[in-house]
Amino acid sequence: MPGREQGLQRFIDAVEAGIRARAADFPDAMSMVDRIFSALENAGEVNTENTPTRLETCRHLENAYDQARKGPEPFPELTDAFAALEPKFAWNRRAEAATVAGDFYDNHTNAMIVGNGGLETRQDVVIGVSLVAPGITYPRHHHPPEELYVVLSSGEWMQNDNPMVAKRSGDLVHNPSNAWHAMQATDVPLLAIWCLWIAA
Ligand SMILES: [Fe+2]
Repeated sequence: MPGREQGLQRFIDAVEAGIRARAADFPDAMSMVDRIFSALENAGEVNTENTPTRLETCRHLENAYDQARKGPEPFPELTDAFAALEPKFAWNRRAEAATVAGDFYDNHTNAMIVGNGGLETRQDVVIGVSLVAPGITYPRHHHPPEELYVVLSSGEWMQNDNPMVAKRSGDLVHNPSNAWHAMQATDVPLLAIWCLWIAA
């Protein structure tokens, strides 16, 4: 079994610990979580095409880290593991971003961490991150794979067109398959990791 670069392994372990800390509150998400982290016991191929890139929106990262470190254990460690790995990310924009009216295009950024286009190429698991500048809404969207967001920095979250709910460092958001969801940064940048199981 090929090994995995230490910084990425540290990050994956911290994401899992952050999720498991809240397992009792999200029983419906745990079968996907088990599938994801048992698959990740085997390292995927290192993506040699990954070119580290930062966008303007990344200037909000430090502020987001300050918020994230206020979370319960293991979120300070998860924040440190993320921050140590972040210089390797190819930060980009959401694919449909150019079609969204308003300030979204220049005030959000996403990066793939695990999965195609991330640091490790694989076909079964996607782990990525979104950073949204203060005051900006990440538009309502849905997708077939169920998804678990790990909230690092506070914001407002919508699911199934219900009213927005405040979430902060340490919280999870579980979106069943095809559930509509959106998020909105308040006066601090919103930072959240997303985990999806994409294999059949
Ligand atoms: Fe999503």
